[in-house]
Amino acid sequence: MRRANAVVTALIMVLFLIHMIWGGMELAGMVKGGSTLFSVLSRVMLLLMAVHFLIAVLLTAQTVRACRMSGVFYLKQNRLFWIRRISGFALMLFILCHVLIFMGTDENGVYRLSLFAGAQLLTQILMVVSLLVHLLCNITPLRIALGIEDRHRIRTDVMLVLSCLLFLAGAAFVIYFIRWRVI
Ligand code: HEM
Ligand code: HEM
Repeated sequence: MRRANAVVTALIMVLFLIHMIWGGMELAGMVKGGSTLFSVLSRVMLLLMAVHFLIAVLLTAQTVRACRMSGVFYLKQNRLFWIRRISGFALMLFILCHVLIFMGTDENGVYRLSLFAGAQLLTQILMVVSLLVHLLCNITPLRIALGIEDRHRIRTDVMLVLSCLLFLAGAAFVIYFIRWRVI
């Protein structure tokens, strides 16, 4: 099941990087929105995330059951185990807000954007923070699960690039918020 999770999350990561860069440029007004390809890729990512969520719940249940049977509970001490889960569940909530904000509505063939005010900006900044925490504490387990050796010690570089991209995504949400205020 861990192998399946690794394959699913690797696919999510590829789609997510494309989505974040493309979406960030849309928010900043550098490219036009409403692309069908973007929409299809986003929905595929959402579907994969639902699969990832189910596997994550099963893996958690499996670990708790194993602890119960062995009678040894190190879970309390295992901070990383809980950070992975708490950031994952926070993500679920904030991604739900993201999808509700960005799906838009179709009224008699006219596409309407949803309001993007202070509350919406806050949920999106929290989504970016949860993504940062979730990805930083999961990148090494993913590399190990995929069997990739870190021969060139690129771990820190990967984390730095991810952090910079997420920072830019956060800035793009702020620019989008400002664009809503001035238009
Ligand atoms: C920080 C990173 C992210 C940025 C900058 C971002 C940006 C955007 C933007 C600008 C749109 C509107 C696109 C349009 O309608 O033209 C959008 C839609 C969407 N996003 Fe994200 N997004 C991010 C993270 C995520 C994550 C983690 C998910 C979850 C899997 C996700 C799922 C979706 C979905 C399902 C849509 C609706 C697509 C549609 O049906 O049109 N996004 N995103
Ligand atoms: C529904 C929201 C999410 C939940 C509840 C969740 C939960 C989890 C949990 C519990 C783990 C640890 C699994 C284990 O014990 O090995 C995990 C791993 C991981 N998650 Fe998430 N996650 C969510 C969304 C995401 C998103 C949107 C991404 C990517 C942008 C992501 C990327 C990863 C990666 C790369 C791993 C490491 C996989 C591995 O070790 O093979 N997750 N997630």
